[in-house]
Amino acid sequence: MLYRMSLTLITILVFLLVGVSTSFAQEYNYVGSKTCGMCHKKDKDGAQLKVWEESMHSKAYEVLKTEEANKIAAEKGFGKAVEAKECLQCHAVGYDLDASRLDKKFKIEDGVQCETCHGPGSEYKSMKVMKSQEESVNKGLKIFKNDDEIKALCVTCHNDKSPTFKGFDFAKMYAKIKHNIPEK
Ligand code: HEC
Ligand code: HEC
Ligand code: HEC
Ligand code: HEC
Repeated sequence: MLYRMSLTLITILVFLLVGVSTSFAQEYNYVGSKTCGMCHKKDKDGAQLKVWEESMHSKAYEVLKTEEANKIAAEKGFGKAVEAKECLQCHAVGYDLDASRLDKKFKIEDGVQCETCHGPGSEYKSMKVMKSQEESVNKGLKIFKNDDEIKALCVTCHNDKSPTFKGFDFAKMYAKIKHNIPEK
């Protein structure tokens, strides 16, 4: 009887431990756009790094340092725009995380980065994992299968909660940042 009870207890404990350790494993860390760019910069592969650098997303944090931004923030009573989480939530990533979750090369100044959209990359960024879409997705990579899914991503920020929102024309806006791998 006692033996049976301890077996049940051990089983419960094992389940708990496995549960706890997998939920820890799912806390992926941010490595920063520069690290992604090491492998995603060649023109023949779609030059993702360059497309992003030339897009407004790479400036989304910097724009919060402008006079215009501080004026908007002040009107809402938030103080400095670049310090207000009410602004940072759409203009940056990682600002609210413990430093242990951010790689040395990660820079909050990079604004809306690769990992803002594709998920934190510490576990999927290795060549071995990246070569398998399935494995990458299992280790935290987010991909978007069709225009509906892509649009749903965009409108998490491009919506009327943005103080400067002037509408969002998906086709026009997506054409400005699209960075697919060219068909071979
Ligand atoms: C060590 C090199 C390397 C690094 C670093 C790297 N990648 Fe990749 N990535 C690849 C390779 C190789 C592929 C597969 C390309 C192919 O299928 O032609 C890939 C594929 C992808 C894809 C397409 C997945 C699919 O199947 O649709 C995305 C999105 C992606 N990477 C994003 C990132 C992001 C974001 C980072 C940074 C967190 C990153 N990568 C870092 C090498 C890398
Ligand atoms: C819901 C997401 C979201 C929030 C919250 C947000 N922004 Fe933005 N912000 C955007 C988007 C998306 C753009 C680009 C297009 C637009 O204006 O909608 C933008 C653009 C800007 C621009 C560039 C000017 C322009 O006309 O494009 C400034 C300046 C700015 N935001 C300041 C702020 C400040 C200051 C706050 C905090 C009070 C803030 N934003 C909060 C999403 C957001
Ligand atoms: C604003 C969101 C956003 C940002 C920022 C972003 N991506 Fe993407 N990325 C997407 C979307 C949407 C797609 C198209 C759907 C898909 O393939 O997942 C895509 C596609 C890709 C693909 C090609 C997939 C294919 O099979 O053609 C790669 C590789 C990639 N991104 C890498 C990066 C890298 C590297 C960065 C940073 C330098 C980056 N992305 C920044 C949203 C983003
Ligand atoms: C995490 C929030 C966020 C997401 C997700 C996001 N954006 Fe943005 N986007 C911004 C912010 C903030 C700006 C303004 C940056 C600035 O003014 O410096 C911006 C600016 C832009 C601009 C430049 C504005 C212009 O009028 O030319 C384009 C284009 C754009 N985004 C397209 C997209 C598309 C397409 C998607 C979805 C695939 C997307 N964005 C997803 C936050 C986001």
